[in-house]
Amino acid sequence: MNTKIIDGKIISGQIKDELKEKTALLKEKGIEVTLAVILVGADPASQVYVRNKKRACEYIGYRSLSYELPEDTSEEELLKLIDELNGRKDVDGILVQMPLPKHIDEKKVTLAISPDKDVDGFHPMNVGALCVGDKGFVSCTPAGIIQLLKRGVDGFDISGKECVIVGRSNIVGKPMALLMLRENATVTIAHSRTKNLEEVCKRADIIIAAVGKAGMITKDHVKPGAVVIDVGINRSEDGKLCGDVKFDEVSEIASAITPVPGGVGPMTIAMLMYNCYEAAIMHMN
Ligand code: GUN
Repeated sequence: MNTKIIDGKIISGQIKDELKEKTALLKEKGIEVTLAVILVGADPASQVYVRNKKRACEYIGYRSLSYELPEDTSEEELLKLIDELNGRKDVDGILVQMPLPKHIDEKKVTLAISPDKDVDGFHPMNVGALCVGDKGFVSCTPAGIIQLLKRGVDGFDISGKECVIVGRSNIVGKPMALLMLRENATVTIAHSRTKNLEEVCKRADIIIAAVGKAGMITKDHVKPGAVVIDVGINRSEDGKLCGDVKFDEVSEIASAITPVPGGVGPMTIAMLMYNCYEAAIMHMN
């Protein structure tokens, strides 16, 4: 099988370059796209994510406002900051890096961000908008996967395809299913209680693995010629980054597959940047 390796670094680069061009045009009109990034505590992985988000802003030409708060910040203080940023006309997007320290209720924080600044697409108003087909911010990882399929696989049409999503999280599995439905795919969500997972997955023209278990999707789950998208970011026993899919064996039968790292990962930030641009356009009007 001549398997296509879908390169998320290249596709995310294209999206960021498109945004960079459009942002320069906005700047000529005196409009600056602004993202406020809030990090509470010093989780090393979150620090890396936040740094990468700020770097992407810098590359595209957005202004980023950085709020790095101590671990013992109270929920009340965080909500007060969000309220202040909600009210600022010069702020287009607000991102609170998750996970938050245990004493802060993530649901309350998600609800506190004004839906028109919720560039993560986590607010129930935005999730609901996706559900009923209204305009709104879409969760970045699933939105990035749609771009990988549209830009990364030549001549591929999602419409009418059997799509099996493995994983039902609020940030990936569920919005992914809604987006695939919007693209006219036939959608199945499989999860930890699904019986005969191999059989269910084998029906798929598109498999999206988002379970967080290293190598759980094997060649026995994959129909020859299927397109396989791997959302997992796991550490193997020898400390290497690996996905939810056994890449070596699945890439022998898939028609296209995303690697880990370098597949879905880079797309999340690109789509966050896309949402920030859309927020700025919305705030212009
Ligand atoms: N933590 C892990 N992924 C994400 C994300 O996409 N957005 C936010 N805000 N926090 C995260």
